[in-house]
Amino acid sequence: MKSISVIGSGTMGNGIAHVFAQNGYDVSLIDIKDEYLEKSLATISKNMDRQVAKGTLTPAEKDAAMGRISTFSSLEEGVKKADLVIEAATENLNLKLDIFRQLDQFSPANAILATNTSSISITKIASVTKRPEQVIGMHFMNPVPVMRLVEVIRGYSTSDEVTQTVMALSRNLSKDPVEVNDYPGFVANRILMPMINEAIYSLYEGVAGIEEIDIVMKLGMAHPMGPLQLADFIGLDVCLSILRVLQDGFGNPKYAPCPLLVNMVEAGFKGVKTGEGFYRYTAGSKDLIVSPRFSRR
Ligand SMILES: NC(=O)c1ccc[n+]([C@@H]2O[C@H](COP(=O)([O-])OP(=O)(O)OC[C@H]3O[C@@H](n4cnc5c(N)ncnc54)[C@H](O)[C@@H]3O)[C@@H](O)[C@H]2O)c1
Repeated sequence: MKSISVIGSGTMGNGIAHVFAQNGYDVSLIDIKDEYLEKSLATISKNMDRQVAKGTLTPAEKDAAMGRISTFSSLEEGVKKADLVIEAATENLNLKLDIFRQLDQFSPANAILATNTSSISITKIASVTKRPEQVIGMHFMNPVPVMRLVEVIRGYSTSDEVTQTVMALSRNLSKDPVEVNDYPGFVANRILMPMINEAIYSLYEGVAGIEEIDIVMKLGMAHPMGPLQLADFIGLDVCLSILRVLQDGFGNPKYAPCPLLVNMVEAGFKGVKTGEGFYRYTAGSKDLIVSPRFSRR
């Protein structure tokens, strides 16, 4: 494995490109617009500067890592030499199926095709390719340069050899990979999302306020972040769409999203990315202020 192509240069794609480049791999970073790619390179450079300031990366290592990243707005050009492709584009089934059809067509026949999807079936994605045994889930956590877990998801047809290659590769990045099977939500989100949903139900039913719910889970369960703050960080729209995948996939009403979550997403309050969810966020401030909308409830 030498050449890695990353599709999508957003939150996750730039982190994945960062980690591979820092570990000596050649990275082709692909997105639909040059401006997204420029923004992504600036983010990677800024994040590496932070490592330099902390003394975990030298300025020369940073320059070498940045020099290993090339950018492409054409998928065909960006994947033609890939040993491994990691798709980290927007979480949308039809978009991902379309990308995997193209990857199957344009990437070398022996390339492994991985997806960073949070919730879409690996087996379904693999089914649109002629190489389902070479398709696998590689679910990195946000922020990728910091979080050690990689949830490695075997689709129904993924081969042992491909799984072992991806497990070993993840360890080469100093990550801790865990192998799981392909069922809705995999392991991480199957456990996390019902907890977040239950926290939102506790607020909705008036059991406690936002800060109280988060404090109980932080101090009582030693979670570094309360579930409502974490939901804001992940994105409330993302939480909602994963709960719907769990609800549809298992046909079990216990995964039904809380009506308050549905309302917040429909009203455009999606958490950190829109400036407000359960908390209100102001650029440049690290203070956690409860959204004033909840004082009326
Ligand atoms: N954000 C998280 O915390 C998180 C964590 C784990 C996994 N994921 C998963 O990672 C994937 C990416 O999520 P994100 O948060 O980085 O999203 P994002 O919106 O920040 O970035 C997605 C990027 O994909 C690009 N894109 C869209 N269509 C494309 C195409 N046809 N070709 C190339 N690029 C295309 C977009 O322009 C955008 O830059 C999703 O599948 C998501 O479920 C996200």
